[in-house]
Amino acid sequence: MKTRIKLVGTGRYIPPATITNADLEKMVDTTSEWIETRTGIMNRHRAVGEMTSDMACKAARNAIEKAGYDKDKIDLIVTATITGDQQTPSTANFIQAKLGLTKHPVAAFDVNAACTGFIYALETASSLLQTGRYRAALVIGAEMLTRCVDYTDRNTCVLFGDGAGAMIIEPAKLPASPVHFFTASACDPESALTVIKDRIRMDGQKVYAFAVNAVETAIRHILNMAAMTLDDIEVVIPHQANIRIIQSVARALDVPLHKFFMNIRDYGNTSAASIIIALDEYRDFHPEAKGKRALLVGFGGGFTWGSAIITL
Ligand code: ACO
Repeated sequence: MKTRIKLVGTGRYIPPATITNADLEKMVDTTSEWIETRTGIMNRHRAVGEMTSDMACKAARNAIEKAGYDKDKIDLIVTATITGDQQTPSTANFIQAKLGLTKHPVAAFDVNAACTGFIYALETASSLLQTGRYRAALVIGAEMLTRCVDYTDRNTCVLFGDGAGAMIIEPAKLPASPVHFFTASACDPESALTVIKDRIRMDGQKVYAFAVNAVETAIRHILNMAAMTLDDIEVVIPHQANIRIIQSVARALDVPLHKFFMNIRDYGNTSAASIIIALDEYRDFHPEAKGKRALLVGFGGGFTWGSAIITL
């Protein structure tokens, strides 16, 4: 799918409390060296005394502030999360209330596509903007995964962290660069990755095998759709799940690893928040990249997977 939207701003919020590899060494039978070499993760953050919607609001306010944006223009909120505050109202509804977006009609709802959630949410919001019904969308990825982590299971507890990211988009007039999207689901017949009753369970090797293929294929697919090559792309922003997945994809595509922006070392896997947190960091660190293209790519529970090409 191809849409025309303008990226107005991005923001993020990372809760201050941390869980380091050294902390995990005291909780389960693991070593910092094992975690770092198998995953690339050294640290993750943990929300204390706040809900997913609180983190999401802080990320949204950061995006609004950095862009100098009039928040009252926002009339659509789409939140990607698998750790919403509660089943209903949606986390997007809470965000709407906490941001004070209650004086004009605002559509607000959540999207669950696990770690691919932000790409699904961005495609959904972009498509709705194309209808002409909305002025501006706030697209959020926010997760409190530490709530679902079993800290006696060394297979999963070393991987996940909390955080939120936000993006403001508006409809764009021609000749704005199009935004390309590819989203898909491959199902997960063997339930290799589930969160049931707030507990993450994962067959790491099955997820890993799916991820390596999905990320490479999603990149190739979106480049074909856009009639581009990786030379047209300034940076690839992948879902931050495991550094070895990215290294393997870089080898398969024969591109240098530095083409991929990574911050997994500091935050671990923040599911639907990881791509937008990384994108916001990249924009802060590289203001000179404005106007160039970023390729977003993700995979996750479902199994879902997808990619997008946007203009920074
Ligand atoms: N510390 C020490 N040893 C460990 C740990 C740990 N934290 N975790 C597992 N091990 C052990 C296992 O028990 C196993 O021991 P055994 O051989 O005695 O049975 C050994 O290490 C090897 O286990 P593997 O599962 O083969 O380890 P692997 O190299 O595959 O790494 C990992 C595991 C990191 C989970 C990897 O499979 C992976 O990253 N998979 C993808 C996970 C992922 O991306 N998940 C998220 C996707 S979607 C979403 O974000 C919700």
